[in-house]
Amino acid sequence: MRNINEHTITAAVLDRMAQCEDPRLKEIMSALVRHMHDFAREVKLTEAEWAAGIEFLTATGQKCSDKRQEFILLSDTLGLSMLTVALNHAKSAQATEATVFGPFHVPGAPKLPLGGDISGGAKGEPLFVNTTVRGRDGEPVADAEVDVWEADAEGFYDVQRASLDHPQGRAVFRTDAEGRLWFRGVMPVAYPIPTDGPVGVMLRATKRHPWRPAHVHFMIKAPGYETLITHVFRDGDEYLDSDAVFGVRNSLIGDFVSHRDGIAPDGSVQAKPFHTLKFDFVLEPEAAG
Ligand code: BEZ
Ligand code: FE
Repeated sequence: MRNINEHTITAAVLDRMAQCEDPRLKEIMSALVRHMHDFAREVKLTEAEWAAGIEFLTATGQKCSDKRQEFILLSDTLGLSMLTVALNHAKSAQATEATVFGPFHVPGAPKLPLGGDISGGAKGEPLFVNTTVRGRDGEPVADAEVDVWEADAEGFYDVQRASLDHPQGRAVFRTDAEGRLWFRGVMPVAYPIPTDGPVGVMLRATKRHPWRPAHVHFMIKAPGYETLITHVFRDGDEYLDSDAVFGVRNSLIGDFVSHRDGIAPDGSVQAKPFHTLKFDFVLEPEAAG
């Protein structure tokens, strides 16, 4: 096809993919081309704007490393991550809601026994977490693998601290026979997502703040159940209604209790303030097929 113009180009590109044998790939690529072309036509994209977009995406890729995922951050801040979660996890009323994965999970975190301390020496007031993992009918989920990660009291994940040579604020546990999981960490605080890259440029240009309300991340895997990726948020946080990545759900606001001092749930004597959190997770059964 020759002499393509702004009206005929979309059909020409779609036609070029006509032989694609993977129906899902064809569907996704076709929709992407149609929406991208409609977008360019709608905003009457200039060549300078096209070049700025390419430069932005190039810088986003260049900011990625084994410790930094700027593309996930971009997807999160544009609401695409939460939209994808919402599309894929329309759960039953009983099951715990999912939320964004975020860029700070690290596979292979230390495996700790129940009651272990995930902080690895991270700064923060002690937090004693007590949870259960159950199925929709209330059955305890024994031996579920529970990955936990959180930022320290200064709002940084371990992977954001270049000088750190060991994991902090992350661990993997297994629930006991009654589906229980308990561990020690640090009280989470609100923190800004990283703004020293292209995503920060985008947030400033669009007059958006980068803050996330305080939370602890959980990823729970067990045979026969859907994997649950979620957070538990701290009640009263000033950013619950304006999370930079749109991840807050009412049902995920946890019962954090602050104590001035006293005996912690693990029996230790705490002379300084500490906190406790109770939260029960409910897993959705794995979809058939
Ligand atoms: C996080 O909660 O770790 C996170 C999620 C999305 C973007 C940045 C951070
Ligand atoms: Fe986080």
